[in-house]
Amino acid sequence: MIHFNEKNRVFNLSNADISYQISIEEQRFLAHRYFGKKLRGDTFRGDYPIIGRAFGTNPIDAEQRAFSLNHQLLEYSGNDNGDFRESSYQINFSDGSYVSQFNYKGHEIIDGKPDLDGLPQSFTETDEQAQTLKITLEDAANKVQIILNYTIFSDYGVIVRSTEFVNLNSESIFLDKALSMSMDFSHSKFDLIQLSGSWARERELIRHKLNRGVTKADSKRGTTSHNYQPFVALVDPDTTEHTGEVFGVHLVYTGEFVSNIEVDEYNQTRVQMGINPEHFNWEVKSGEVFQTPETVMVYSADGLNGMSQEYHRFYQNQLIRSKYKKEERPVLINNWEATYFDFNEEKLHALIDEAALSGVELFVLDDGWFGKRDDDTTSLGDWKEYKEKLPNGLKGLSDYTHNKGLKFGLWFEPEMISEDSDLYREHPDWILGAKNRQSSVSRNQYVLDFSRSEVRENVLNQMRTVLSDVPIDYIKWDFNRNMSEIGSRNASVRDGEILHRYILGLYEVLETLTTEHPDILWESCSGGGGRYDPGMLYYMPQTWTSDNTDAASRLDIQYGTSLVMPISSMGAHVSATPNHQVGRSISMEMRGHAAMAGNLGYELDLTELSSDEKFEVKDQIEWYKKHRKLIQYGRFSRLISPFDKNHKAAWMFTNEEQTQAVLFFYQTMARANDSFDQIRVVGLKPDQKYLLSHNGETYYGDELMYRGIYINHDLHGDYQSKMVEITAVD
Ligand code: DGJ
Repeated sequence: MIHFNEKNRVFNLSNADISYQISIEEQRFLAHRYFGKKLRGDTFRGDYPIIGRAFGTNPIDAEQRAFSLNHQLLEYSGNDNGDFRESSYQINFSDGSYVSQFNYKGHEIIDGKPDLDGLPQSFTETDEQAQTLKITLEDAANKVQIILNYTIFSDYGVIVRSTEFVNLNSESIFLDKALSMSMDFSHSKFDLIQLSGSWARERELIRHKLNRGVTKADSKRGTTSHNYQPFVALVDPDTTEHTGEVFGVHLVYTGEFVSNIEVDEYNQTRVQMGINPEHFNWEVKSGEVFQTPETVMVYSADGLNGMSQEYHRFYQNQLIRSKYKKEERPVLINNWEATYFDFNEEKLHALIDEAALSGVELFVLDDGWFGKRDDDTTSLGDWKEYKEKLPNGLKGLSDYTHNKGLKFGLWFEPEMISEDSDLYREHPDWILGAKNRQSSVSRNQYVLDFSRSEVRENVLNQMRTVLSDVPIDYIKWDFNRNMSEIGSRNASVRDGEILHRYILGLYEVLETLTTEHPDILWESCSGGGGRYDPGMLYYMPQTWTSDNTDAASRLDIQYGTSLVMPISSMGAHVSATPNHQVGRSISMEMRGHAAMAGNLGYELDLTELSSDEKFEVKDQIEWYKKHRKLIQYGRFSRLISPFDKNHKAAWMFTNEEQTQAVLFFYQTMARANDSFDQIRVVGLKPDQKYLLSHNGETYYGDELMYRGIYINHDLHGDYQSKMVEITAVD
C-alpha cells in the first residue's frame, strides 16, 4: 500500500479507493502532492510550478530565487522559515530562540500500525490490514526531530496521521504548539462544513463558502465541548448528501482542540488540526518524545453520506473496543427526567416494575444516589450510597432490578467535586485551579485535578468499592461543566501541561476501569453531548447524545451527529410531553420514531402514562428489538436534511445484504396545499423486488431508488412522522 519512488522522491499511499502522495523537494522539504481518489501510479511528481514571486524568501540560496516555502504546498508547515501561513508547531529552545527548519532525514515503512502510548487510537487486528509510513524530519542545529506518521488501511478511504517531537538535545525544549496534522490543497473551491452548537443544541451542521483568511473552530473549555466538534470537512461546492467530493478531518482527542483552515493569497487552502495551543506549553526533556493525538482523515467521492458511512464503519471496526461493539444494545429506562433528584426506593421500584412490563431491558439510576445529594449543591466526590433514599442500599436496588429481569446501571460524575463534600473537606487543594486564585464554580461544582495521580487513585478506588459491592451492568460517566482557570495548585506541574496531563490521566483511569470491568456497558456523557468525540468512543461505545430530548430538536442533533458518529453510539430517549427542555408537545409515535433512530431508551415516568400510551411503548420496544440490529449496525443514509429549513427530515437504515431497510420521515411543521416529496430510497439492489409496509405494494429496487416514492402526502398537522419497512421479496 505504501511505496517510495526513489527516482522521483515521491511517497505514494494507495489502496483500492484513495491515494495520498508526498514528495521530497530539493532533497529536504516535504511537499504535499495529492489526497483523493486513487491514482494509478506513483511516477507522477506533480507539476507544481516553481516561479519567482515577489516577497518570497529563498531558503536554498540566492541563485534559486524562484523557490520559496510560502509558495509550496507543504506537508507539515514550519515556523518562521519563510512560509508565512499558519505554522504546525512552535518550539521554544532553551537559549530563547524559536526559529527552526526541519528537513527530510529518512523514512521507514512498516506493516500494521504502531501503538500510541496512553492515547485513544485506531487499531488493526492484523498487520496485513494497514501499513504505516514514518517520515523523520530533523532540525540539525537544534538536534530535534519531528516524525510524521501516516497509516493507510486496506479497506477504508482513510488516512490516519499523528506527529512526534523527539528531543535529542541535551537541554529541554518547550512546545507552544504541536498540531497533529497539516495539509495544503492547491485551490480553495470548497465549502467548509463544521459541527458547531451549544448545550442542548449540539452539532448543528454549518456549511459556508470558504473565504480568504483563517477560519478557526476550536474549544477553550477544557474538553471538546458542546460548541464545536473536533471535525471539519472541505467539500466541493456541488457536493450533496449523495454525490461529490468530501475531505473530512477528525481528531481522536477529548481535550481542547483547534482546527485552522487558511486560504492564502493564491487561493490555496491549508487544513490543520490538533491540540489547541491556547492552554498548552509542553516541556520535552532531553531524550523524551512528545506524541500528538491522531487525526482520522476520510476522502469520499460519494458525498456526505459516503464520508459518514466511512467514519461509521471505521470507528465501529477499528476504534471502538468494547465487547458490546457489535452486540445489540439494550433498551433502557433512565430515571433522570422521571424523578430528577426526588426519588426513593418505592418510586424507583414502581418505575422498574412498569419498565419490566413494557419490555425495557436496563434500568439506569441517574444522579442523586450518593452522599446526601438532593440537589446539585452537594456530595460530588463522595461515592457512597445515600441510605435515606435507598434504605436497602444500591445492592438492594440492583437485586430488585435483576429479579425483575432487567440489568442495572448507575450514574457517576467521577471528575467532579462539590464544595459540600467529605472529599473537599479533606482535600480542598485537589481542585483544578491556578495558584493563589479562586476557582470559579459552575453548577456548584469544581473539577478535580485529574493530572494528579493521588486524585485519580482516590476516585478509582471509590468506584472500585462500589463496583465490587454491587452488581452493575452499565455505567453512565457524566461531566457537567466547562473547565476554567486551568492551572495547577500542585507545584510540580507547569500550568501549560495541566490540561493535556489531565486528559492523559482521564484516559489512564478509563483504560484501567474498562479493562477491569469488560462486561460493563459504558456510556459517556457531558451534560448530553459535550464530550462526544472519538477519544471517548475508544473507551465507551455509547454517548448520551444531548440533554435535549425533544423529538423535533433531536432531528437536528442526531442528523448533525451522524455526520461522523456511528448510530450504535448514539443514545436517544423518549421523554415526557410537554417536553422538559422546550415545552413542546409531540405524539408518542413521533417521539418513538425519533428515538428509534438511535439506541432506544425511555426517560419519563412510565407509571404516569395512560394505558393506551403504555401499549404504544410496549409496541415500540417490541418493534425496536426486532429491528435494532439493522438500526444500530446497518448502513445509515441521510435523505432530507432538517437544516434545509423545509420543516422535514428523513433518513434510512439498510442491512448489509440489502434485503431489509427502514425509512423514517418526519414533518415538524405542516404547510397548507404543500408540494409532494418524492423520496428516493438509497442502497437497495436495483433488480430486487421489495415490499413496502405503508401501502403493501411491491416495487423493484430501481423504481424505489431512481424514481422514488411518495410517503408523506397524507400527514396532517405539525410533528408527524412515518416509518416504512422495506423488505426484499421473491
Ligand atoms: C447531565 C446529563 O446529561 C443528564 O442526563 C443527567 O445525567 C444529569 N447530568 C444529572 O446531573
